[in-house]
Amino acid sequence: MSGTGASPRPAVVAGNWKMNHGPADAVAFARELELEAEGVAEVLLFPPATSLAALRGALAERGLSSRVGLGVQNVHPAERGAYTGEISASLALASGAGFALVGHSERRHLFGETHDDTARKTAAVLAAGMTPILCVGETLGERRAGRLEEVILRQLDHVLTTAGVSDRLLDGSRFYLAYEPVWAIGTGETATPGDASEAHAILRSCLIDRLGSEHGLDVPILYGGSVKPENASELMGAPEVGGVLVGGASLDARSFSAIVQSGS
Ligand code: 13P
Repeated sequence: MSGTGASPRPAVVAGNWKMNHGPADAVAFARELELEAEGVAEVLLFPPATSLAALRGALAERGLSSRVGLGVQNVHPAERGAYTGEISASLALASGAGFALVGHSERRHLFGETHDDTARKTAAVLAAGMTPILCVGETLGERRAGRLEEVILRQLDHVLTTAGVSDRLLDGSRFYLAYEPVWAIGTGETATPGDASEAHAILRSCLIDRLGSEHGLDVPILYGGSVKPENASELMGAPEVGGVLVGGASLDARSFSAIVQSGS
């Protein structure tokens, strides 16, 4: 079940494949996925954009289209134009993506994405009628310097303000959040359930402050960073943890299925 905190929604289990799994691997993954056609957890997959169509087709063949939501890992903020190599939110939507990750730490740290870029991308995703999953998280240095709260609130606050995410907007749109401490991504180091709950509670109180209690309580807050079948259930049971965003362990259909099972 999802965290016992404020949110009564089902747990969200999302897999971010990053730059892995071409179309053939995506099809093989869909065939090996062990999911009931109906289930409690909300299941999302973020393949590379080039594998989206193949994954979508393979899920449809198994009757899992409505069971698994699809998303892209990044969008360009403009709707169209001369941006060689980029994909807009509306192109992603037309290819079957209903979700987009925004502000993943790899985008921020490896590709130099700023708070403004993240806010513009969030606005573009919302304008296309898709659901953004805004990723926030502190580095180890920031955590050790006692700056956890300041860093994650700045990342969230800038997007809420600049992308115009308001209670009125959320009457018609959805907004998800993921707390991914940078030191826990791909390192095998997992935040303890207590660490995750502490950060999620900080984010939750900002959401309630900014969006009011109805919308503020409704935004799922996922934890990401070295989630595996062995720790998923404990993390998803922690207060305020509304699901998980899984990198490495989402590449294997069996381990991803086991994580989904922990959220059900
Ligand atoms: P890992 O699960 O591989 O640590 O990656 C987490 C992540 O970045 C998900 O977006």
